[in-house]
Amino acid sequence: MAILDKHAILEKNVTLLAVFALLVVTIGGIVQIAPLFWLENTIEEVEGMRPYTPLELAGRDIYIREGCYVCHSQMIRPMRDEVERYGHYSLAAESQYDHPFQWGSKRTGPDLARVGGRYSDEWHRDHLRSPQSVVPESVMPKYGFLENRAIDGKYIQDVMATHRFVGVPYTEEMLENAKADFAAQADPEADTDGLIERYGDKVQVRNFDGKPGISESDALIAYLQMLGTLVDFSTFTPDASR
Ligand code: HEC
Repeated sequence: MAILDKHAILEKNVTLLAVFALLVVTIGGIVQIAPLFWLENTIEEVEGMRPYTPLELAGRDIYIREGCYVCHSQMIRPMRDEVERYGHYSLAAESQYDHPFQWGSKRTGPDLARVGGRYSDEWHRDHLRSPQSVVPESVMPKYGFLENRAIDGKYIQDVMATHRFVGVPYTEEMLENAKADFAAQADPEADTDGLIERYGDKVQVRNFDGKPGISESDALIAYLQMLGTLVDFSTFTPDASR
């Protein structure tokens, strides 16, 4: 066949082959890369996603500080065994306010992307104090000390300002009320109108660790109980054009 004969010319001439290979790779590269310069955002917008509340953000910092990500991922892959165990696969939008993201690369323990609401606060308290008291074979370390470490949100406004700097849409009002919102979320007696107005009525307000005062455990449990609960998957439909 004629076309195969012509191809033989390429196969026998290494310089020509290199030139054509480069040409093909260049076209492929442009097709893949060029659209990214015109797209404003590669993340599909998903209803329900909001920046973390001050208390959740503080909890997330504790999560990172304690190295929870060393044993836990937050990324459910779109494979059947994963979806059956953990729920709907993770969407890019669900990590859009995570700086840095917490996908993780190792699962000594289960994925935590949708752990919010799966257990009660009491369960988390017992589990953090002594994982082995609820899961006897657990190799997870004890984190009971967190409930004895008080936090007051002194730095949370600065932390939020930093997150805003890297693109999280915290408003001026959110920053101004950071410390008040921080305290209100952990206090069922508090006036939470402002908090709910700013972050939505799905915000969970409780005394998470069951003890008076706000501890690192309150913040961490508030964060865990929020994970995976922001997007309502009973109404979510993926955008097929992406
Ligand atoms: C050395 C590894 C290791 C570290 C570090 C670790 N975990 Fe775990 N975690 C595990 C293992 C293993 C399990 C499964 C057994 C169990 O439930 O204790 C688990 C289970 C859990 C569960 C229950 C998940 C589920 O779906 O049943 C939560 C929540 C959790 N860990 C939170 C944390 C938090 C928060 C931190 C950091 C403060 C942390 N873990 C640090 C190993 C670890």
